[in-house]
Amino acid sequence: MNLHIFDNESTLARAAARMIAERLRADPHAVLGLPTGRTPIAVYAQLVAETASSHIDWSGVRTFNLDEFIGLSRDHAASYRSFMWRHLFDHVNIRHEHAQFPDGMAADLAAECRRYDEAIRGAGGIDLQVLGIGANGHVGFNEPAEALQAATHRVTLHADTRAANAGWFAGDVSRVPSEALSVGMASILTARQVLLLATGEEKAEAIAGTIEGGITTRLPASFLQLHANATVMIDRAAASRLTRLEAAPAGPADRPATP
Ligand code: PGA
Repeated sequence: MNLHIFDNESTLARAAARMIAERLRADPHAVLGLPTGRTPIAVYAQLVAETASSHIDWSGVRTFNLDEFIGLSRDHAASYRSFMWRHLFDHVNIRHEHAQFPDGMAADLAAECRRYDEAIRGAGGIDLQVLGIGANGHVGFNEPAEALQAATHRVTLHADTRAANAGWFAGDVSRVPSEALSVGMASILTARQVLLLATGEEKAEAIAGTIEGGITTRLPASFLQLHANATVMIDRAAASRLTRLEAAPAGPADRPATP
């Protein structure tokens, strides 16, 4: 994995937005896999700014979001669909039908999971998959478990994941849906390029396990070690438990480091 450590969130956000923008400039028909969460907010703001300043055309770009809550209407303020339109899609010229989400309101959720995987396959797979990481090591809503799932699937959210999402529901964890739809590990691991983002001390342990630990279903992000083109962008706080890195000579931030 290519590891980049940044002094702060805003330098990280700029670098991540630059990587996404470069992909869109190189391929105006790129297929992006996109996350929600606190971490990508600054990245999307930078990407919107870069889109405006260098006239990036999103009209041919297709996106597939990683996950969505079950039981929230599309226009609920806390749905991930609403989040994406608020932070990114409303500010670029993406076509409405090109921005895809698993539909957590579908009458037949199993059929919806199959439809979503077929839509990703039909688009030719994901070119660049951007990921956040949960403090428990989840990617998308692939939670730590005895076994992980390859395909898009229905998940019961862990209590700590629901707590981490309470902010989207006025701090009331009881309002956070207990279930979600999530892409599986296959669409993440078969993406042609992966960019994992993490900031803050609360992600430090998950990042250490992801980069330096063994590959385990107990830390789904650790499977990214198998990916041939994965980049990890983190801030110093999220890097604070990397033991091999501490042993390496200190280098300037915002520079690739190989643990
Ligand atoms: P966060 O979420 O960016 O809000 O920390 C990341 C995740 O849970 O995947």
